[in-house]
Amino acid sequence: MKRTLVARSIGALGLVAMLACQGAPPAEQAATGSPPANLTMFAALPDAPPPLAGNPMTPAKVELGKMLYFDPRLSRSWLISCNTCHNLALGGVDLEQTSIGHGWQRGPRNAPTVLNAVFNIAQFWDGRAKDLAEQAKGPLQASVEMSSSPDRVVETLKSIPEYVERFTAVFPDEADPVTFDNMAHAIEAFEATLLTPSRFDSYLRGDAQALAADEKAGLDLFVSKGCAGCHNGVNVGGSNYYPFGVVQKPGSDILPPGDKGRAAVTHSASDDYVFRAPTLRNVGITPPYFHSGVVWDLSDAVEVMGNAQLGMALTPDERTSIVTFLASLTGTQPKVEYPVLPTHTAATPRPVWQVDTAPSGQH
Ligand code: HEC
Ligand code: HEC
Repeated sequence: MKRTLVARSIGALGLVAMLACQGAPPAEQAATGSPPANLTMFAALPDAPPPLAGNPMTPAKVELGKMLYFDPRLSRSWLISCNTCHNLALGGVDLEQTSIGHGWQRGPRNAPTVLNAVFNIAQFWDGRAKDLAEQAKGPLQASVEMSSSPDRVVETLKSIPEYVERFTAVFPDEADPVTFDNMAHAIEAFEATLLTPSRFDSYLRGDAQALAADEKAGLDLFVSKGCAGCHNGVNVGGSNYYPFGVVQKPGSDILPPGDKGRAAVTHSASDDYVFRAPTLRNVGITPPYFHSGVVWDLSDAVEVMGNAQLGMALTPDERTSIVTFLASLTGTQPKVEYPVLPTHTAATPRPVWQVDTAPSGQH
């Protein structure tokens, strides 16, 4: 496969490719910083977060968002924060088949990573939240997750003077800055900073040495077998929706019949079992796989994809090669200093662990 790739670039790039083999940097790529010609379906991760619609980023907003992200008192039990299920020490996931939330209740889906999530076309496996700010309001209210309510969250924040001061400073033009929406905007700003540049990005920017030969061979397979048809763009995924089982429907253990995916959002039968192709950045450290979270081994997940999405049985060697490439998508993890959170007061609503007092809600 490597040979096919090189053969395609013979011509104008032939000399460059040969020089690259001898260890010299590929002059043309280095000059433009653009991806190799056959990899234009991907894009390198930018150095900085993209602008957020209606939510200008400031350092103070990012800091506030970080505090909120780590504050378990936003949950009804005072036990669960965003970081419980999107643990930034663990690649932004909880390593559970499906997440466990309020009162030890298990939710229906695997938690996707928050890392680089700002670049996804929309949030959730079914894309039902248009952006991170809309998304952040879901888990707080979901009865099986943080089990709170907008009123309870605002009451909690207003009962803690340092939060009131910080919201006032971050949203200076607003008469009543401590709102559920502003909480979501601050969390979104923090999440947008959680980017993980990898060696694959250096490769896309023209550093031909950034990937080892076996990783490049895996990348060639990833492209030539058709994986990149759905897992592409800046997040190597996250950019569109596809049926899970384009060619062959996976078994009901992997694709539970009760979860119809995007059809629940669009109410269109043609979206039955349609899910967003997830980002494959950091996939090597974020098992288990699929929205059902039942597959632990990345090579097994690749095998499922070959059969279900492409109708091809990949050989063990091909799977190993693709997995080797996927591991190169594990990027430098963001260094996050654990925040010291302001003390609650007598006015802060006390923790409730019971499940039956939970409001219903949708995440
Ligand atoms: C109890 C575990 C749990 C908690 C707590 C939780 N999440 Fe999630 N999160 C999930 C699960 C499960 C999903 C996927 C749900 C779905 O797709 O239907 C998800 C999805 C997401 C996504 C979408 C990522 C993507 O690729 O689509 C983001 C972003 C996110 N959560 C951020 C947050 C933030 C911010 C908080 C805190 C306000 C939070 N989560 C709290 C479990 C949790
Ligand atoms: C037709 C589009 C399509 C093609 C082609 C495709 N995928 Fe996927 N991929 C998806 C979708 C959609 C999902 C999410 C399935 C689910 O869990 O509902 C997914 C999930 C995955 C996952 C699980 C990621 C996670 O975090 O849970 C991996 C790994 C993966 N794909 C790798 C591959 C590889 C490797 C190939 C090529 C052999 C490939 N995919 C081909 C659409 C595609």
